[in-house]
Amino acid sequence: MILFGKPVAENIYLQIKKDLKTAPTLGVILVGEDSSSVSYIKIKEKKAASLGLGFQLFHLSGITPEKKVTELIRELNVNKYISGIVVQLPLPPEFQTEKILKQIKGEKDVDGFYGSFMAPTAQAILEILKFYKINIKGKKIVIIGHGRLVGQPLEKILQGQGLKPVVCDSKTVDLKAKTLEADIIVTAAGVPSLIKPEMVKADTIIIDAGNSEAAGKIVGDVDSEVYLKIKAYSPVPGGVGPVTVACLMKNIVETTKMSTS
Ligand code: GUN
Repeated sequence: MILFGKPVAENIYLQIKKDLKTAPTLGVILVGEDSSSVSYIKIKEKKAASLGLGFQLFHLSGITPEKKVTELIRELNVNKYISGIVVQLPLPPEFQTEKILKQIKGEKDVDGFYGSFMAPTAQAILEILKFYKINIKGKKIVIIGHGRLVGQPLEKILQGQGLKPVVCDSKTVDLKAKTLEADIIVTAAGVPSLIKPEMVKADTIIIDAGNSEAAGKIVGDVDSEVYLKIKAYSPVPGGVGPVTVACLMKNIVETTKMSTS
């Protein structure tokens, strides 16, 4: 079975349209010209517009001092026209990313870095599993990659549900031994063809949240040969990506509930 993201995202959009009473605005901060960031932002902008949500891009040059970014976040934190703030990652390598993200006010932190929102990609993975009725209770779950956008938040959420995911990364010694034991693999390493057929059992389910470019195409972490062997997988593109955008939109709509309560 191919776990396409589109029907999952459509389902979330139906709920959003029902919930939407006032139109919140997303403020996105982009520093520099990273081409993937620019295209992700365009997708977010288009989706926001199609739902009637506001969208404002704050595009700063790549040589902007870190202090200016912090100041902008502080301004947006108190700007009543901005309901949610996204600082698009990656920031320039010399920036202290963690310190910057901590500046975002919890109620506006729709990426769920430090506030109470659930990180959209982690949320998207759970939504896909739920939509396709894939039970995770008692399953051996292996998460590959422990970045702040996917691995870290997903591990926390699953632990909160009483599960014990095994977290590894692309450099884990004998990664194969871990993946061969997994019922469900969630991979977000950003390493093309990291997961090879000999690393998985035939009844393993793979959610691929990897995202990198290979030969001019967006690819996940899973070698296409694996698809011929396993039970179910989410494709890249067309799997986790569109559901992540839907979950971000859901968080933005949630901000209106928070500010009115
Ligand atoms: N860069 C790639 N994906 C994301 C995301 O979901 N949020 C942010 N802030 N930056 C990203």
